[in-house]
Amino acid sequence: MSDPVLLPSKASISRHEGVKFEDVRVHLLERKMGSSRRRFLTHLARSKGFIVEDTLSDAVTHVVSEESQASSLWKWLKGCGLKNLPMMHILNIIWFTDSMREGRPVAVETRHLIQVCVLATVSQYACQRQTTTENNNKIFTDAFEVLAESYEFNEMEGPCLAFRRAASVLKSLPWAVQCLGATEDLPCLGEHSKAVMEEILQYGRSFEVEKILSDERYQTLKLFTSVFGVGPKTGEKWYRRGLRSFSDILAEPSIHLNRMQQSGFLHYGDISRAVSKAEAQALGNIIDEAVHVITTDAILALTGGFRRGKEFGHDVDFIVTTPELGKEGHLLTSLIDQLEQQGILLFCEHQTSTFDMSKLPSHRFEAMDHFAKCFLILRLENSQVVGGLHDAEEGGRSWRAVRVDLVSPPIDRYAFALLGWTGSRQFERDLRRFARMERRMLLDNHALFDKTKKEFLAATTEKDIFAHLGLEYIEPWQRNA
Ligand code: CTP
Ligand code: MN
Ligand code: MN
Repeated sequence: MSDPVLLPSKASISRHEGVKFEDVRVHLLERKMGSSRRRFLTHLARSKGFIVEDTLSDAVTHVVSEESQASSLWKWLKGCGLKNLPMMHILNIIWFTDSMREGRPVAVETRHLIQVCVLATVSQYACQRQTTTENNNKIFTDAFEVLAESYEFNEMEGPCLAFRRAASVLKSLPWAVQCLGATEDLPCLGEHSKAVMEEILQYGRSFEVEKILSDERYQTLKLFTSVFGVGPKTGEKWYRRGLRSFSDILAEPSIHLNRMQQSGFLHYGDISRAVSKAEAQALGNIIDEAVHVITTDAILALTGGFRRGKEFGHDVDFIVTTPELGKEGHLLTSLIDQLEQQGILLFCEHQTSTFDMSKLPSHRFEAMDHFAKCFLILRLENSQVVGGLHDAEEGGRSWRAVRVDLVSPPIDRYAFALLGWTGSRQFERDLRRFARMERRMLLDNHALFDKTKKEFLAATTEKDIFAHLGLEYIEPWQRNA
């Protein structure tokens, strides 16, 4: 005969007369609590009308533990073979003492929970994590991004990258961190990151971050680098000359603005405003039409943040090419002419191709690729956008300026270019780092080189590249690392 050990026997319930709370079945974990304390607390709870189960079974609703290491507790719990574990409240002793004081089971609050720990280990590489646009840890990642940027402005690459990595790990979690214990098994979180998180958990904000945000140098560099064509180097130069505002810069006769920066200032209001998905779609239609006037079989693909499913972006990125190798050569030039003729080209910086397969792999598989590309500002009419322009100012402007990037790789490099331009930047960084560190391979926007075999690995799709790297395929919308 089988023994239904997992069900509480009638006897065990009716044994305690005066049960007041039928729906709550408490189990006190002896681990860490010790048997005598457990016996005492069991007695106390029963005297107040609580059902306390002696064994941990699927009938238990509230598990109380004095264990402080959330991860080891969860490892142990998962090992108990309970079917009902996902439905149980796993609680710290505060819930128990609160309930004893009130003389009833108090409602479970966040502070009572011993947070579920990630038992599947989280990889240190973003390319082995799935990161959607839903960020459950924005309060932490926003803070980390301010710190990273501040280190970037001070040219401290190490700590900058460390905070970017830490932010990226938190973005991949399907749950919100509610106590520091829950981060125990996570990679890339150093002392400094954890100290910032602890501050935020305790006070709801980080004083270190607030100090940076109110720092004049940080504020000024942030403002200056928000202009198209102005990087940290130029921003720093202007700051050191005592300039603090746009009017300072524009009033300074000795400052020479390049063409890109001039357009950046001219269209500042428009291009510093987010681009919506509908606006990206409208631009896609415009470019699609223009490129097919040039070559009927042209290939156009949306890439960048919008391919990753973002609702808003700072620009719109596209790849354009032709199915016939070599025919892509004049595609961008013709496309720019087309847009110019339509009267919608507000700015264009065209970089011709310097791509040469025989020179690969270069010593530094550098960030910038050698494909023909152009950085544009286009005029987008309100009437071209389904639902109209996003965030159109009062007074009803009929158009806005939008930043658009186009890149034109030869078709046999298409998969590498698509993977490289889809991003996110952190995802790309980690793909390359993974290839180098774990596979002795070099990956960039042009190619994948196997250093052991001393040969290039061909790919026609992104899936081919992931397969060469021995990585599980990550969909574009899971690359928001
Ligand atoms: N990229 C690149 N070479 C460049 C510019 C960009 O390889 N010269 C890649 C970046 O690595 C990034 C992607 O193109 O992954 C898109 O860049 P960008 O438009 O700056 O960022 P998005 O992820 O699209 O974000 P946003 O929505 O802010 O535009
Ligand atoms: Mn983009
Ligand atoms: Mn871009």
